[in-house]
Amino acid sequence: MFDSIPLAPPDPILGLAETFAKDPRPDKINLTIGVFQDELGRTPVLQCVKKAEQVLLQTEQTKSYLSIDGLASFRHHAFELALGGLAIEENTAVVQTPGGTGALKVVADLLRRNMGPIRVWVSLPTWPNHNSLFQSAGLEVKTYPYLSADKKSLDFEAMIETLRTQSKPGDVLCLHGCCHNPSGIDPTIDQWNEIARLISEYGLLPLVDFAYQGFGDGLEEDRVGLRIVAEHNPELICCTSFSKNFGLYSERVGALMCLCVTPDDAIRVSSSAKQVVRTNYSNPPRHGGALIATVLGDPELRDLWSRELAAMRSRIHAVRKQFVEGLKAAGCTIDFSFLLAQRGMFSFSGLTPLQVDWLRNERAIYLVGNGRMNVAGITPTNQQALVKAIMDCLESVGS
Ligand code: LMR
Repeated sequence: MFDSIPLAPPDPILGLAETFAKDPRPDKINLTIGVFQDELGRTPVLQCVKKAEQVLLQTEQTKSYLSIDGLASFRHHAFELALGGLAIEENTAVVQTPGGTGALKVVADLLRRNMGPIRVWVSLPTWPNHNSLFQSAGLEVKTYPYLSADKKSLDFEAMIETLRTQSKPGDVLCLHGCCHNPSGIDPTIDQWNEIARLISEYGLLPLVDFAYQGFGDGLEEDRVGLRIVAEHNPELICCTSFSKNFGLYSERVGALMCLCVTPDDAIRVSSSAKQVVRTNYSNPPRHGGALIATVLGDPELRDLWSRELAAMRSRIHAVRKQFVEGLKAAGCTIDFSFLLAQRGMFSFSGLTPLQVDWLRNERAIYLVGNGRMNVAGITPTNQQALVKAIMDCLESVGS
């Protein structure tokens, strides 16, 4: 029976992590998957999480099922963190999901089931799983231009022009709340205002993928786009993730939030989201949600968390600076200072697929094929080798 099942291509990001794991070369460097690493190349469990786990160990009474939409205290804190002060909680359907990816899939299924054929606009480039996930849910995926030809800045005019001339009312517009993945290039405040007005004028439904809150400039600063879009649009979808800002990658914890016009709308949207969840994975896992609720519900743990998050953020900023300076000091003829303006873990390095291949084959340095680099993977131990490899690559393959 299984003979007829074709071999699926490897995932462009997670597939590379598997290839990396199998690479026997001892000095290999992994700059692929978006996972924070400290100066020693580790992805540690945050202290606030360890402490919350101690609390849970003492206080947890049951491992019985959660409700279909997850833990109520988690839902409240997830709402507050992303949308507190920007939206009314009673008007918002909130569902705990297995990671941000889970939130995206639940809402994609929900839209497809209830709103007929739907088109969703994603940036070109975007996180590759956006395309696959929306398509697998039966949505038609359209792309809007995002980057200038040199891939070093936002081509805002092209983005707006495409949406103005080609979108139609009811289309979903997928935006990255902050730390655009893969480019690290976000709109300015003025640009967010223009996007928000366009959404309202053209009757689009904004879907803000908000997976990196706190990794750009700060928890509040990173909400600026979301705030502006919410100010102009009473209906909005927000998908959040706690993989990065709590380091809870493998616990799979995120939230889907649908801002509605009335509490009645929210009840209906929530009921439909629950139907989607029940027919997919029944109800979410408890542990990650319980950890978030414990940390955010305790002033001391919350304070510790925001300090740990700030430390991750500053390391990313510092790494960008050191890397750019390292290349300059090594005499690199290409000016990489554009990396300094990018936000979050990812940078579009400007390296071509040919150069990315060379780095992988010749030096065991792994980037995503489109040149995306996880800067958090650069450490004091590997930076020199990385700079040298890039210099050698530019010489060997050409720039
Ligand atoms: C990434 O883009 O590397 C992360 O969001 C991890 C993932 O699921 O792809």
